[in-house]
Amino acid sequence: MSDNKAVRDLVEKSYGICRMTGSFSSDFYDLFLASSPLVREKFADTDMQTQQRMLDQGIRHLIRYFHAPSQVTLDKMQELGRSHSKSRLNIEPALYAIWLDVLLKTVAKHDPDFDDELENAWRKVAEYGITAMLAMYNQI
Ligand code: HEM
Repeated sequence: MSDNKAVRDLVEKSYGICRMTGSFSSDFYDLFLASSPLVREKFADTDMQTQQRMLDQGIRHLIRYFHAPSQVTLDKMQELGRSHSKSRLNIEPALYAIWLDVLLKTVAKHDPDFDDELENAWRKVAEYGITAMLAMYNQI
C-alpha cells in the first residue's frame, strides 16, 4: 500500500464521519463567509443551499484527486480550475489559504478523532488539489 493511498483513505474515512453529522457544509460556509468581506463578496449572488451540495461534491473529488483519481475526477478538477480562474470567478490565491484554514477548522469540529496526524493528512490532500487549481488561475 502506497503512502498516498494511506493518506487518502484516512481523509476519506474522516470526511465520512464529518458528513454524518449533517451540518458539515453549512458550518463550513458559516465560517467561510464570516472569515472575510472578500469571501462574502464572491458569494453575493449565490444560492448557499445549492453551494453546500457543491462543496460536498467538490471535497469528494478533491480527496480522490490525491490518489488514483478516475477520469471523472480528473475532468472535474480541470473544470473547477477553469471556473475559479482569473477570467471567470477570479478566486485569488490568498482566498484558498482561508478556504483551507476553514476546512481544517470544520473537520476539527466534526471529527472527534481529529489530531495532528489527521490534520497533516487533510492538509496534504487539499493542498495537492489547490495547487492544481491555482496552476490554472492565470492560464484561462
Ligand atoms: C479546493 C478548493 C475549492 C473547491 C474544491 C471548490 C469547489 C467548488 C464547486 C464544486 C463549485 C461549483 C461548481 C463550479 O462553479 O465550478 C464552486 C463554485 C464556487 N466557488 Fe469554489 N471551491 C474551492 C475554492 C473556492 C474559494 C477559495 C473560493 C473563494 C471565495 C470559492 C468560491 C466559489 C464561488 C464564488 C463559486 C460560484 C458560486 C455560484 O455559482 O454562485 N471557491 N466551488
